[in-house]
Amino acid sequence: MHPATRPSAILAVVISLLHTTACCGDTTVEPFHHTDQFEVTVEGLVARRGNLDPMTQEGCEALCTSRLFLLEAPTVHMCVATLDSTEPDASEDTGDTGDTGDNRSGRGKVQIDCIVSGFERCVGGRYSAALQARASGRGADPVAAWLAREACGEAGSVIAFRRLARELEALGAPASLVARARSAMRDEVVHARMVGDLARARGGSPDRVAEAPLPLRSLEELALENAVEGCVHETFAAARAAWQASYASDPSVRSLSAVLAADEAAHADLAADVHAWACSVLPPPDAQRVEAARRRAWAELAANPVPVDATSARALGLPDAIAHRRIVGALIEALAA
Ligand SMILES: [Fe+2]
Ligand SMILES: [Fe+2]
Repeated sequence: MHPATRPSAILAVVISLLHTTACCGDTTVEPFHHTDQFEVTVEGLVARRGNLDPMTQEGCEALCTSRLFLLEAPTVHMCVATLDSTEPDASEDTGDTGDTGDNRSGRGKVQIDCIVSGFERCVGGRYSAALQARASGRGADPVAAWLAREACGEAGSVIAFRRLARELEALGAPASLVARARSAMRDEVVHARMVGDLARARGGSPDRVAEAPLPLRSLEELALENAVEGCVHETFAAARAAWQASYASDPSVRSLSAVLAADEAAHADLAADVHAWACSVLPPPDAQRVEAARRRAWAELAANPVPVDATSARALGLPDAIAHRRIVGALIEALAA
C-alpha cells in the first residue's frame, strides 16, 4: 500500500481540513433530533429486502431507522411517505411483489421525511461480535455521558483486539499482524483507563463490558467485521479524535484526543493491512463481498452525521454535520487515491 493511501494519512487530511474550514470552530448546532429525507425506489412499492412497504407507517419507520445505524434505540417522531412517481410494471415475470392491483404496482419512487431521536452509537471504540453489547454509559450531563460511552467503547476495544489477535493467529495470518493486534490491545487498555478517568472526573459512569461466547470465526467473517469496524469506524474515530484535539473547548479533552488520534490512526493502518491480507487470501467472490462491505460502510457513515447536542459539540469538539461530511468525504477520497 502506498504510504499516501494509508489510513494514518488521515491526520494529514484532517489537518488540511482544519486549515480550510472556516466554520468549524463555530459549530452549527445539530439538534439531538435527526431529520432525514430520502427517496426509495421500490417495486410494487414493497422493498423486496425486508418486505417493507414504505406507504405503511410501520414500513416508513423501519426504512427510516434502518438508515440511522449511528443511533441506538431510535424513536421515530414523524415519518411521512409521499408517492413521487410510478412507472407501469414493465415485466410480467416479476413474481409476487405485493401488488395490490391499485396504483401501487410497478416501480415507484417514494419520498420519505422523518424525524428521529436517540442516543448516539459510540464509534470511538472498535466494536466486535465478541462483545455482548455496544458501548454504553451514563452521566449527569451530555458531556459526562458521552465520555462514559467512549470509555466503555475503549474497554470494548481491548476485547476486540484480543479476539482479533487470537483469530488472526488461528487463521495463519502473518506474525506481524498478530503482533500489531496485540500491541493495539495494549493501547486500548491505556485508552480505557485515560478516558474512564476523565469520564468519572466529569461525573460519568461507563458501563462494564463483557465478552460474548463466540467460536472462532471464518476468515470471511473476521474480514467483514474488520472492514466495517476497523477500516471505516475506527478510521473515522481517529479522524474525529484529531478534530477534537483542535476544537474541544475542554483542555483535558484536547490533550486526551491528541493521544487517541495518533494511536487510533495506527489501528486504522492495522485494519487496512488486515483487509489487504484477507482479500489476498480469500476466494475472489468472498473478497469482493468484504470490499463491498467496506465501501458500503463508508457510504453509510457519510450519509449519517452523528447528532450531537450543542453543549457536547463545544466541550468535546465534535464535528457538526457539515464537518462530519467533509471529514468522511476527504477520507474516502484520500483512501481511494
Ligand atoms: Fe482506542
Ligand atoms: Fe483503537
